[in-house]
Amino acid sequence: MTSPIHLAAWKALSEHRKEIDATSIQQIFDTQPSRIQDCTINAAGWTLDFSKNRATSKTFSLLTQLAQEAEIESLRDKMFQGERINATENRSVLHTALRASHAQNSLVIDNSNVLAEVRSTLKQMEKFVWQLQSGQWRGYSNKKITDVVSIGIGGSYLGPKVVTEALKPYAQNTISVHYIANIDGSDITEKLKKLNPDTTLFIVSSKSFGTLETLYNANASREWFLRNGGPEEQIHKHFAAVSSNVKKAVEFGISEENIFPMWDWVGGRYSLWSAIGLPIAVSVGMENFRSLLEGAHEMDTHFKTAPLTENLPAIMGLLGIWYCNFYGAQSHVLIPYDHYLRALPAHIQQLDMESNGKANLQDGSHVETDTGPIIWGGSGTNGQHAYHQLLHQGTRLVPVDFIAPLTTHNPVNDHHLQLFANCVSQSQALMVGKTLAQAENELQQSGATKDEIEKIAPHKVIAGNRPSNTLLTNKLTPFTVGSLIALYEHKTFVQGAVWGINSFDQWGVELGKVLGTDIAQRLNSNSDDSELDSSTQALIKAFKDAQA
Ligand code: F6P
Repeated sequence: MTSPIHLAAWKALSEHRKEIDATSIQQIFDTQPSRIQDCTINAAGWTLDFSKNRATSKTFSLLTQLAQEAEIESLRDKMFQGERINATENRSVLHTALRASHAQNSLVIDNSNVLAEVRSTLKQMEKFVWQLQSGQWRGYSNKKITDVVSIGIGGSYLGPKVVTEALKPYAQNTISVHYIANIDGSDITEKLKKLNPDTTLFIVSSKSFGTLETLYNANASREWFLRNGGPEEQIHKHFAAVSSNVKKAVEFGISEENIFPMWDWVGGRYSLWSAIGLPIAVSVGMENFRSLLEGAHEMDTHFKTAPLTENLPAIMGLLGIWYCNFYGAQSHVLIPYDHYLRALPAHIQQLDMESNGKANLQDGSHVETDTGPIIWGGSGTNGQHAYHQLLHQGTRLVPVDFIAPLTTHNPVNDHHLQLFANCVSQSQALMVGKTLAQAENELQQSGATKDEIEKIAPHKVIAGNRPSNTLLTNKLTPFTVGSLIALYEHKTFVQGAVWGINSFDQWGVELGKVLGTDIAQRLNSNSDDSELDSSTQALIKAFKDAQA
């Protein structure tokens, strides 16, 4: 995979960037009467309106050419077929197999049919969820389980947590699901405060069963269980695990039949569709979990079959490249206008930044382009009273994804109408802005003096011409939540493929882990730290002094 800057389309886009500067988004609308029809696509329960972008028909055709020259379709097909496209870890990338349709029976990797394994795991999950929800599963004192605590971090935490929150209207309310991730003892202390050991079951979710935070929290949970009356020989009734490291999970004390498999062909941040999603299923039931998978599968099918010009993940990915590489945009913001999706930006941040925060091409050479942008965001309308100021008047270009369901699970007076009105008006305001003449006129109408107008009007000018996408769905359901997350997975794939990086490894997080172990040893001993830099020495000393 070579650097995309040598592709003809990349060079043409650089030239095109200069000519498009003379045209605003509003002018594009004026010259393209069918703009909204041309720039609206439906897939898997979502409608994407990408009309409010600094992109003409020529831009889109050059971006499509870029995708073709970068051969993203062939890489996509290799991914779906299970080729080892994660070259640095020599692994297939098959999260799509976790949600494959039942029409497909076989996908053989290393002599084993991964689809058979996926389906048998789903059956195992089904039984487990049913036992918990029906009350058949009993704790050591023969009481029903009322609370499930998922212990995991990173991909083994964020995706399931975000989906559990997103699907709260579908919660069966038989079992409360909680998540513990941080090694900060305050997290586990606060979560366990309200729980009883005899009615609590822990799911330790760790692909490796070797992650520091998860092991610490799993051990602390076991201690809490034993300290509060739980018998050692009954631990198996209160602990389950999801891991590819069965040996370590068994050593921890979890019985083999309560260990759900994970595979090396599923990356952590792509794993909510596997048994890592078990807490989701415990919360919303297996039927809804299957519907989540179906939504993701429908987006997979769309991604696999729709032409690039009508392909949601491709269009969103390519527009992102347009802003990132040709406008120098450093970040991308996601703004869901839905309370249940308020944590979605955090999951997409992990998904995108751990995937595309890379500086090496597949062949190991340094990239010649910027890669993954900073992903951030939060729910509307809250953000309007916080960071939207920067979106409207700041010096940086920040492309926006607005995400909104058209109907609400919780009708309260006309709250939903107001919520939606704000979503639409934000994208409108970003595009149209406010001219100096408008600002002056506004001030004049409000009775301001000439001096006041002169002084204040420039501050009220809003440049406009700021790009956004709007994603709409009729209703937030397990299906549409599944397809939405799959959409962002594939958008991330498209960008990584164009940049020529490996979106599926994460070597960057390793150094911090190694150094963390070293510092922990120093904090715990009378170490000679003189070979360390003076800042690190001072920080270690501050900690030791405080403990003393
Ligand atoms: O440190 C990063 C990471 O390896 C993620 O990629 C992964 O999702 C997370 O840690 C947790 O890993 P595990 O599931 O093995 O505990």
